[in-house]
Amino acid sequence: MTQSAELFPCALPRTSGAESWRADFPILAQQIHGKPLVYLDSAASAQKPKQVLEAMDRFYRNDYANIHRGVHELSQRATQQYEAARAAVRRFINAGHDHEIIFTRGATEAINLLASSWGRINLNAGDEIVITELEHHANIVPWQMLALERGVKLVPAKITDEGEVTLDAIRACLTSRTKLVAVAHVANALGTVLPVAEIIALAHMQNIPVLIDGCQAVCHMPVDVRALDADFYVFSGHKLYGPSGIGVLYGKAALLAAMPPYQGGGDMIESVSFSGTTFKEPPHRFEAGTPAIAEAIGLAAAIDYVGTIGMNRIAAHEREILAYATEKLRGINRLRIVGTARDKAAVISFVIDGAHPSDIGTLLDQHGIAVRTGHHCAQPVMERLGLSGTVRASFGLYTTKDDIDRFVAALEAVRGMLQA
Ligand code: ALA
Repeated sequence: MTQSAELFPCALPRTSGAESWRADFPILAQQIHGKPLVYLDSAASAQKPKQVLEAMDRFYRNDYANIHRGVHELSQRATQQYEAARAAVRRFINAGHDHEIIFTRGATEAINLLASSWGRINLNAGDEIVITELEHHANIVPWQMLALERGVKLVPAKITDEGEVTLDAIRACLTSRTKLVAVAHVANALGTVLPVAEIIALAHMQNIPVLIDGCQAVCHMPVDVRALDADFYVFSGHKLYGPSGIGVLYGKAALLAAMPPYQGGGDMIESVSFSGTTFKEPPHRFEAGTPAIAEAIGLAAAIDYVGTIGMNRIAAHEREILAYATEKLRGINRLRIVGTARDKAAVISFVIDGAHPSDIGTLLDQHGIAVRTGHHCAQPVMERLGLSGTVRASFGLYTTKDDIDRFVAALEAVRGMLQA
């Protein structure tokens, strides 16, 4: 059996089950402003199942100590569980080696690590980094900061009016100066699924490495970094039903081995003296200081949780919810869905003529509906589409058709109030 098959045991799509999965999330069983909570903000941060809460609680109650530093029993247990979490991440994305998995504070820190470390030894004035117009700020600003410092140029590939990224758009940006292609797997503001396998193949034809920002992908679909042949892949734990404060940088072993440290401090050195310091090999070279130990263990519990359900089942359920919600929203007068790519993950962004997104969000909250409004940390894509912001409803494995029905009913009421 392959690692992927072990992780995603239910290959046959089955869309029932969301009600029972939902029962694993204690926070969802509450009322907000006297109405049942309908949580449609999973793209900002997903809620946590009791399996994650209990794993972290168990660790703090029984096994907590610092890692890699103690000969005592608790430190040994904590170290073993932290490194087991690394192995769980490796299996989850089907990486080849544990040392290709670096724990960071989140995807943002993972990209900053790459910009500081890989960027420092590989990029020079005049070099180009190709991104797209629909990136999250986390995959724009670190590269812009590097561009200012080193004279590197950031080249955004154009998107279509539907919010798609074509291979032609990427191809048009590649030049002999391109040193990196850095793109989202799934666009956070629009939900577009990018053709990342094809983008990677295209870049590799010119020996250009590719970073994939997988924050909005790992929670919605199986991801196999070796099948994709991604050079770097990053994601955050908190969008994958795990805790905040933990994220992952995957990098091919040879690339990581050539990279200098990102931060200096304890646990990343071989030896320190005033005449010179030597550094550990990856992954520890990139994990200075006491890391987020319980959070790594919580992330492993989240990976175990989604693996038990099966990523294919989660994907099938969310496809059904997305189609159901899209159809219902299309029936609402003067509502326009923003981002209509053929391949989308569980996100719907929209505007309503004559109503400001933040007013819609505030009024929806009074109905117990949690959505995100504004630019979604993706101002360039809003600008490209001529908008200052949208309302974004985003779904997770616990989203039900009943949630969508409540959301649509509330939206009709809100629209009536705002346009009265
Ligand atoms: N990146 C998160 C979002 O899309 C915060 O809302």
